[in-house]
Amino acid sequence: MGERKEPYILHEEPGLKKYCACGLSKNKPYCDGSHHGTGIHSYKVEIDEPKTVAICGCGLSKNKPFCDGSHASQQA
Ligand code: FES
Repeated sequence: MGERKEPYILHEEPGLKKYCACGLSKNKPYCDGSHHGTGIHSYKVEIDEPKTVAICGCGLSKNKPFCDGSHASQQA
């Protein structure tokens, strides 16, 4: 995370989702297993109904993996 200035807007179906927490995934915002050996683990989120979610891409959210609007404070 931390490469973007805006969230990833995803239309998720029900199920267990794993979002990247280490910043190394090549399939962001999803975890691709690249964190192995770093001591960092993915964010696991159970989605119980089809919904749109905003996943933090800037790294500043205090409610990760979700966007909390903190990206708006970044300089352009
Ligand atoms: S993208 Fe990080 S707080 Fe919105």
